[in-house]
Order: sequence, then C-alpha cells, then structure tokens
Amino acid sequence: MHAGFTDLEVTAMSAALQAARRGHRGANPLVGAAILTRDSQIVVGHHAGAGSPHAEADVITTAIDLGVDLTASSLFVTLEPCNHVGRTGPCAQAIIDAGIPDVVFALPDSNHAAAGGAATLTEAGVRVRSGLGYEESSALNSRWRGAVAAERPFVTAKIAQSLDGMVAAADGTSQWITSTASREHAHQFRSRVDGILVGTGTVLADDPRLNARGPSGEPLESQPVPIVLGLTSLPPESFLALNPDTVHLRTRNITAALGELRSRGLRHILVEGGPSVLGAFFAAGAVDEVFCYQAPLLVGSGLSSMSGLNTSTLSDAVSLVPDETAEPAMYQLGPDVLLHFIVGEAGAGAGAGAGADHYTI
Ligand SMILES: NC(=O)c1ccc[n+]([C@@H]2O[C@H](COP(=O)([O-])OP(=O)(O)OC[C@H]3O[C@@H](n4cnc5c(N)ncnc54)[C@H](OP(=O)(O)O)[C@@H]3O)[C@@H](O)[C@H]2O)c1
Repeated sequence: MHAGFTDLEVTAMSAALQAARRGHRGANPLVGAAILTRDSQIVVGHHAGAGSPHAEADVITTAIDLGVDLTASSLFVTLEPCNHVGRTGPCAQAIIDAGIPDVVFALPDSNHAAAGGAATLTEAGVRVRSGLGYEESSALNSRWRGAVAAERPFVTAKIAQSLDGMVAAADGTSQWITSTASREHAHQFRSRVDGILVGTGTVLADDPRLNARGPSGEPLESQPVPIVLGLTSLPPESFLALNPDTVHLRTRNITAALGELRSRGLRHILVEGGPSVLGAFFAAGAVDEVFCYQAPLLVGSGLSSMSGLNTSTLSDAVSLVPDETAEPAMYQLGPDVLLHFIVGEAGAGAGAGAGADHYTI
C-alpha cells in the first residue's frame, strides 16, 4: 500500500525509521536516514540529539567511509531535510554537495526556520518525493511536535521512588532512595538537558544544587540551567540562591513558566519534582517523557511521588507508553529498575533502537 514506491524503497524507509529510534528525545526530533545504493545496499544514520550531526550528515559520512557512490544512490530520511544553519549546517546543501540525485522524505518540516529544504533540493535538480513513512514518522515525534506547536520546551519528568511510590519517608528523609547506579544515570541525563526544574518545597527541604556530576562528584562538561518554580523566596544561603545562573520563576502557572523558559532559549527541561510540582506538570498535560527509577524499598508511610493530579476514576488516569528509543524501556540499574515512558504516543515504543549500520538485502 505504498503507491509509487518499490519494495526496496519501502525497506529503506523502514531502516531510516528504525535508525531514528536510536536517538535521544529532547530539544530536537528523532530523525533517521538511509542511503540505498545502486547495488541495493542500505546504509543508515541517525540524529543523536541537539548539537550532534543531523541524520543526513551522519549517513553521508558513513556512506563515504564505506566507499559508496553517492551520485548513484537514493537518500531516505524521516523528516524533510532542513534548509537553515542552526547548530549544524543546512542538510539540503549537504545533500546537493554530496551529489545525491534522489531524495525521499517522510514528513514535511513544520519548523518554519528549518522548512524549505525540499524546494532547495528541487531547484538544484534533485528528484524529491515525500509521504513514504509519513504516519510512522509523525507518531514517533508527536509529543515533540506538540511541544513546538505550544511554543514550550520538551519536558521530561524524573521520578525516583520506592516500590510503594514514595519519594520521602514520613520523617522527611529522602536521600538516597535510589542506588548509586541510578544516580549516575540521572546525572548523565542531567547533562543532556537545557534546564532542571524543582519547586520551592524541594529547595527548602533538600537544598539541591541541580547540577550534573560524575561518579566522583566532578562537574560534567555540559551543565543545565537550575530552575525553581514558586512564590516563596529562596533561603539566601541555599546553593541555588548563591548560584548566579539560577532562574527563579515566581509563579505557579505551568504554561506561563514554560513559555518563559522557551523564550529564554531552553528547549528541553527535566522536571525533578517534588510531588506538588510534578503533579502540577502532569495535570497541565505538560509532561512528554518519563524516567522512573524504581528502588526495591517499601517505605510504608511517607510522601507519595505525586500530588494534585485530581483524578478519581481509572478512566481519567494518565497512561504512559513504554519507550524504546535510545535505550530499553526497562532495565536494571544496580538493585533498581529504570522505566522509560513517552506520554500519549501510542506505537512510539515499537521497534527497539538496535540494528546494524550497514546491511545487504
Ligand atoms: N526522591 C526524589 O526524587 C525527590 C525529588 C524532589 C523532591 N523530593 C522530596 O519532596 C519533598 C518536597 O515536596 P514538595 O511537593 O513541597 O516539593 P516541590 O513540588 O518541589 O515544591 C512545592 C512548592 O512549589 C511551588 N509551586 C509552584 N508551582 C506550583 C504548582 N503549580 N502547584 C503546586 N505547587 C507549586 C509551591 O510553593 P510556593 O508557595 O513557593 O509557590 C509549592 O509549595 C521533600 O521532602 C523532598 O525531599 C524528593
């Protein structure tokens, strides 16, 4: 049912979609690419995340390394090649420079700054077709496109909880519910986001630094902007009050806060809680992705990981879809289990990100 495309072309686009799932969700969409050579070989590439090469550049580099004749090849990409100079150069020009005569893309680029790649390619004499893999590519990035349309950052929520869903014991103790392995994973993740957000309650309770640290406490290369949400003033001697980079948003309005963060150029936010702010983000429909570190502890009474969702019947429950992009949807970290979900994007988890870089049909 792919009118106008050969079986080999359908297979090439499937390979590009599979490759897209190797990337990390966040500021940029998941994008994959495949080059179909004259002798029916397929080479794949993907975009690993903001600041790294786009999928087209990645696959062109791999194909050149493999000695592929690009002037006799077709390129399949899950998103229209971009036309703008962002953190990397325009992909449309890279395709023209590589001499690729034939391009198939799945989804038009709705980002006005980047759109227009198809027209540039056509003007340069490249054969351009679209629509193959449209539904799959659209579903894969539906949360990301929703965030862009709402002019807010992509939002990941982190939950670190006991098996009975507690983030703190009744006496307020909360360090450390999860294991060293989980905390190391969480710090690596912190270094990939633009900002980390907590409410004033967490600042008062824990005096967090909200930075990204390695196993020995050393700062990681890329540091997120620390963000605090809420009306209460920060204690003057707290780490976040003393950090000149801290952004304190004196509001409880999630939509306004996210709009402000986007206007400051932040495109991927990690919400680390506590329960009031986490619940408020879910209630506002403003969580796109969830990482839940589940520790093998039963705390009994304590502070539940989320409050304020105001759902009283199962049919109103927020449902999450296991997400296989970049890493498995579920795996063990020391004694803990890490669960990775995407919100409201059915089918996004299908097809794990594994697979060869180069294979023959
Ligand atoms: N285990 C973990 O991973 C983890 C992570 C974080 C926190 N915690 C624990 O969580 C506890 C703190 O809980 P918490 O709920 O007070 O923390 P919180 O959610 O970080 O902060 C709550 C405060 O945020 C402000 N706020 C801003 N926007 C809000 C909104 N839309 N809805 C509700 N409140 C909003 C309010 O203060 P204003 O009056 O200032 O507006 C509110 O009192 C501590 O015991 C901490 O150790 C555990």
